[in-house]
Amino acid sequence: MGEIGFLDDHRTWVLTNDSTTYALRLDEDDVPAHVYWGPKLRTEDIPQLLEKPLPWWDGFNDPNEGLDELAADGGTKYWTPALQIRFADGTRALEWRYRNHEIHQDHLRIHFEDRHYPLRITLHYRLKSEVLERWTELTADTEVDVTRADSATWVLPIRDDYRLSHVTGRWAAETQLRRTPAPHGETTFASRRGITGHHANPWIMVDDGTATERHGEVYGVALAWSGSWRLTATRSSTQRLTISGGFGQDGVTQRVGPGNPLTTPVIAGLYTNGGFGTASRAWHTYVREHVLPHPRELRPVLYNSWEATGFDVDEVNQRTLADHAATLGVELFVVDDGWFGARTGDHAGLGDWHVNRDRFPGGLKPLVDAVHALGMKFGIWVEPEMVNPDSDLYRAHPDWVLHHPHRRRSELRNQLVLNFARPDVEAWAHDWLDRLVGDHGVDFLKWDMNRPFSEAGWPGDADPDRLWVEHTRAVYALIDRLRQDHPSLRIEACSGGGGRIDLGVLARADQVWTSDNTDALDRLRIQHGYGQLYPARAMSAWVTDNPNFVTGRSVPLRFRFHVAMAGVLGVGGDIAHWPGDDLALARELIALYKDIRPVVQHGALYRLRPPADDGVTALQYVHEDRTVVFAYRQAAHFNAPERPLRLDGLDPADRYVDSDAGTTHSGAVLLARGLPLGLPTGDFASVVLRLRRKI
Ligand code: GLA
Repeated sequence: MGEIGFLDDHRTWVLTNDSTTYALRLDEDDVPAHVYWGPKLRTEDIPQLLEKPLPWWDGFNDPNEGLDELAADGGTKYWTPALQIRFADGTRALEWRYRNHEIHQDHLRIHFEDRHYPLRITLHYRLKSEVLERWTELTADTEVDVTRADSATWVLPIRDDYRLSHVTGRWAAETQLRRTPAPHGETTFASRRGITGHHANPWIMVDDGTATERHGEVYGVALAWSGSWRLTATRSSTQRLTISGGFGQDGVTQRVGPGNPLTTPVIAGLYTNGGFGTASRAWHTYVREHVLPHPRELRPVLYNSWEATGFDVDEVNQRTLADHAATLGVELFVVDDGWFGARTGDHAGLGDWHVNRDRFPGGLKPLVDAVHALGMKFGIWVEPEMVNPDSDLYRAHPDWVLHHPHRRRSELRNQLVLNFARPDVEAWAHDWLDRLVGDHGVDFLKWDMNRPFSEAGWPGDADPDRLWVEHTRAVYALIDRLRQDHPSLRIEACSGGGGRIDLGVLARADQVWTSDNTDALDRLRIQHGYGQLYPARAMSAWVTDNPNFVTGRSVPLRFRFHVAMAGVLGVGGDIAHWPGDDLALARELIALYKDIRPVVQHGALYRLRPPADDGVTALQYVHEDRTVVFAYRQAAHFNAPERPLRLDGLDPADRYVDSDAGTTHSGAVLLARGLPLGLPTGDFASVVLRLRRKI
């Protein structure tokens, strides 16, 4: 449990959870200044951290630079600005004045105002497990232009060196983990696309360059937002490093005024001592316990028709696939794109959300009923934020898309973005989605978003720039409303694969489509990067056909399954044409997955060997008295002897029984010497081992 205290005589707040202390204070000018973030301290230790800095003789720099809790532009503050405002008379600087604070259980609010102008600022701090959530709220009695409103500035302790961990990517190559020395100056990770993006993801971890998977201090921050964002790591010659982060679009101003407050998304921060493995497990716990809508649920085994039937879906082929899926043990059958309007390819029909009667003569209901009768839940693909210009919707409402006067409307994948900030567009989307779900008994939506923003204008609106934020807020509100009105509805977030994975969407999606790339080897790397922050419980992973449509590679079915079984297992191949042997193996492996599912989806992840390390990648999940080990040899080389795999997260004093071989292992030996893997020879060899603690 967390604790928040206030040291009155020091004007200092101290927030403590099980392993971490965070402290901030008011400086002599009432500016909120950072004091400490790191290993847990006793409250009585905090005053020692408040010693006055040495006398200062440098006329060019502020001795306190880089210490602000929300680095506001103004005065002699030249740090990367986290808050930039302009009042109606042109004044830009903010002068902080402390008003008061409130502490309610795990939540601290510190209220400030400007010394002259009617602008109020509240800094929020909320403890959740090992994570500290922060965000900012602005309210004003007269109009104020806000060019930047970050959620928070995070000040890291002085270290000898700094290294940044983050992910980069693109379509079909998401979440590639990078570790790089932190450059001096400002390093910005951002999306200017109106979506979270494939090319970066809104989190950064920082260590001093010496942390490993199992050792060392790791700091991390992650933003809960699915639109444009920015995280800037600033490293100064004073050896200080800060990270400032928030939503927003370069060059776009937000207005705050009467009846129009601004609340930033949450930015979450985490300190751990135990290497990147401990950091990831703490993030996973946070996401499972405090972010996901139904954390205790087990995600079902899904079938999705996209790679099997593409745009050529119809009642007959979907029923055939559903029949096969049911015999395999699939629990949720999802019809992908192509079921509506004139959507027989990606050139037309998007936006016309009525069932294509040529393909489904009796509407969707007969298929939904058939799927339900087979004992599976029914899911369907939607892309509510988009329209093909060749659609009835666009012909009727060409003004509903993001556009600027006198500018082309740039198409990507033959589609344009609907402006969800418009109340009429949001109402339209709610109407058809509500009917689609309610009338057909839809259990699951795959909510896709297949292109970034462009020409993001809103002609006729007095403040068109607000669409950058309000589009995302409207999507959130719509999903929240659908979920509230249809409590059993579950949602998968997708954006051309993993273009919309973040803590914001995970608060309202049950899982995310990790990547359109389902090649098992590429997936090992994509899943490795995904899992740095996000848990297996939300990581959708399908087994698809050979050769893979992205890489052209063929991989044995068992290996493909074993890779997908490390997340939320799904099948996406053309199972109506799988040979009997493959169907039998799939049935067996789906049954195995159902057995290990609680361990994978709710367990603690130990990355025993990362992809690319000597050709054998290995993961382990530990949950209650069970542990599951996945090991994958990508390619065999020479006559390399197999190394035992040292496990983690076990009790050395306990004994563990291999549920398949029946052998018993001492925990101490599994930790110290390791488990002989017994991988078959050859390329693409993989095993799943199940161990249970002996009582
Ligand atoms: C995106 C998704 C795919 C599929 C197609 C349908 O690319 O990532 O899984 O749903 O759209 O058009």
